[in-house]
Amino acid sequence: MERELAIEIVRVTEAAAISSARWLGRGLKNEADQAATTAMRAMFDTISMNGTVVIGEGELDEAPMLYIGEKLGNAAYPEVDVAVDPLEGTTLVAKGYSNAMTVIAIANKGCLLHAPDMYMHKMTVGPRAAGRVHLDDPIEHTLKIIAEANEKNIADLTVMIQERERHQQIIQDAQNSGARVRLFSDGDVGPSIAPALAETGVDLFISIGGAPEGVITAAAMKCLGGEMQARLVPQNDQEYNRCLQMGIKDPHKLLLMEDLVRGDDAIFAATGVTEGEFLRGVRFLRDERVETDSVVMRAKTGTIRFIRAVHHIPDKINLVIS
Ligand code: FBP
Repeated sequence: MERELAIEIVRVTEAAAISSARWLGRGLKNEADQAATTAMRAMFDTISMNGTVVIGEGELDEAPMLYIGEKLGNAAYPEVDVAVDPLEGTTLVAKGYSNAMTVIAIANKGCLLHAPDMYMHKMTVGPRAAGRVHLDDPIEHTLKIIAEANEKNIADLTVMIQERERHQQIIQDAQNSGARVRLFSDGDVGPSIAPALAETGVDLFISIGGAPEGVITAAAMKCLGGEMQARLVPQNDQEYNRCLQMGIKDPHKLLLMEDLVRGDDAIFAATGVTEGEFLRGVRFLRDERVETDSVVMRAKTGTIRFIRAVHHIPDKINLVIS
């Protein structure tokens, strides 16, 4: 993949963030999601690549835009797999809560896991603990290993877990181990990347959440040198068979980094919609100016760019960002 693609792709997450941010706190999550999707789709047409959506808004018959299999970009080369989450945390925007962002991951054709839209058990750690943990270990043991790797006491570790009934036991176990626990309501991409960004102070992420979001997180982990381990959690025969149909021979297999994102070339881009773990949200300024904060990373070089942009966007024109 050309390195220019990394910079180009930020335009796409920026456009989606600005469009969806106009729906902040209006209680309309589908409208916020649609605004992000429409803006993202339009901006993709200006990008020099030959992309295919492998993780998107659903199947062709259920999603008119950014459906799995849809072609994106205006060039013959590079041929890439694209995973999109036009608005990660639709409820967050609808309620005006923190942590919503727009995200895209790109890898060479055939390199992203074609994950079905179902639950996935996910765990991420930063670079120092990478290669030393196992998803199936009890959390007490994992925390001991991370404490050693990060040269901290267990009491100084921070674990992020999504606040859900299904996580009751893991939350209790983390609390009993003496670590600090941070629960969050929605949007697990930011929290799952956080352990690989030292400034967030997060040491471990563990939760069962969306599999599509999981593949996007894995792309970021590849860029940041962290580690993700995961396992699909099909809830019934239909979901199990869906895995098989999508080419996943053993749906219960432990998925390691290479299973999630193959090779050493991946790009991850995100723009904050509301205030987040490592990105500020969209700010509407005077004179029809809009300020955004984004991050873009490339696995090949390990470069991480934080980009603050000021856009001139007249109210009527939502999508045009040059
Ligand atoms: P949406 O952006 O589609 O609303 O997803 C938000 C999210 O919190 C994901 O980040 C997470 O992976 C998943 O939902 C968890 O699912 P559930 O809300 O069913 O527990």
